[in-house]
Amino acid sequence: MDAFLIEWLALIGRWVHLITGIAWIGASFYFVWLDNHLLAPAGKSPDGVGGELWAVHGGGFYHSQKYRVAPASLPGTLHWFYWEAYSTWLSGMFLLCLMYYGQAEIYLVDARVAALSKPAAIVIGLAFLAGTWLLYDALCRSRLGRDDRWLGPVLGIGLAIEAYALCHIFSGRGAFIQFGAALGTIMVANVFFVIIPGQRELVKAKMANREPDPVHGLRGKQRSVHNTYLTLPVLFTMISNHYAMTYGARHNWLVLIGMCLAGALIRTWFVARHKAHERGGRTPAWPAVWGVLSIVIVAISLVPARGSPGNVAPANFAQIESIVKARCVPCHSAVPTQPGFMSPPKGIELDTPQHIIDNALRTQPLLISHTMPPGNLTGMTEEERAALLTWIDHGAHR
Ligand code: HEC
Repeated sequence: MDAFLIEWLALIGRWVHLITGIAWIGASFYFVWLDNHLLAPAGKSPDGVGGELWAVHGGGFYHSQKYRVAPASLPGTLHWFYWEAYSTWLSGMFLLCLMYYGQAEIYLVDARVAALSKPAAIVIGLAFLAGTWLLYDALCRSRLGRDDRWLGPVLGIGLAIEAYALCHIFSGRGAFIQFGAALGTIMVANVFFVIIPGQRELVKAKMANREPDPVHGLRGKQRSVHNTYLTLPVLFTMISNHYAMTYGARHNWLVLIGMCLAGALIRTWFVARHKAHERGGRTPAWPAVWGVLSIVIVAISLVPARGSPGNVAPANFAQIESIVKARCVPCHSAVPTQPGFMSPPKGIELDTPQHIIDNALRTQPLLISHTMPPGNLTGMTEEERAALLTWIDHGAHR
């Protein structure tokens, strides 16, 4: 496809994805917060109200009431929340197909990890999305799913295994996004297959004047809780592609697990904090402490090793220039010649001596982690990589 067209589709796709994602996660955060802050009704309130909340926002007072099951009669207008979730997933799939599947050779496949053909990579990627949901759903519906003390750890271990597997199949960048897409798919499928059908059943039962089957409410609640703890991990994976130090790390699967664990723990702390009024205003700090500790451990383990310049004499600058010209400039120039690129990625041009020198330090970790060139599309040899790194180690002089 034309690079200009891809660029515009990616821009519009990301914009939509970000907007719908904010609407979805924002609403989800709000309702979790609302649910956790409900107090027993203070004054006279309609029959069946179990909790209420007062808030002031944007120049007005709001009074929310939550019914234990349902109001005596349904209101004429009932608002539902699902399009935010669906459109986030649809725009995300669009981006995944456009960038990671459509350009799998750049973003998804890394021959050093696994020499996959493009169709194989795409099929494996899609299989992971579907497989993750099917397994997760089966676990939740199994006997194990009735006890959250067992289900939580089992799901956590399962996802950790998946993170490990993905990082041993795809490029780091591709693996992180695939993992995030799998978690996001769980979340949206929870809304589509469980939460919304449960709400429909509630409404239908109400209209038919019969008691709704409580299993729907319980199941919906369980899936909502899972979604809450998945939000921060998913958001980490979605921004991880800007941070090559994470996905490009040697043990990138540990980085992925560590950061996702941190996200889930920090969310746990926030949710606990919502209910501080039930504990006399106190919130146990341990989830937040473990979460932050997890990030600190990941960060410390990623501190770049100070490579002392070896005894190898650095290549002369003319050689450096010719390596960069062959291996980097096809993408990193004002007018890239590499198919699929229409402007220098991240605005980085490496086509003059000064540009090469200016970007040398920024380039070092990317060369060490084999993040650049992506998928080694330009066929850089290990000798060339070593020559560039030695030259940078020696001060990146002309
Ligand atoms: C196939 C095209 C391609 C080739 C070849 C390529 N790059 Fe990149 N480069 C990219 C893309 C795409 C990005 C943006 C990655 C992102 O979205 O974060 C990038 C980003 C960068 C960045 C900025 C990273 C950051 O976020 O700070 C640097 C520095 C860089 N490349 C250096 C190099 C060097 C050095 C080479 C040659 C060894 C090289 N690149 C080869 C496509 C390429």
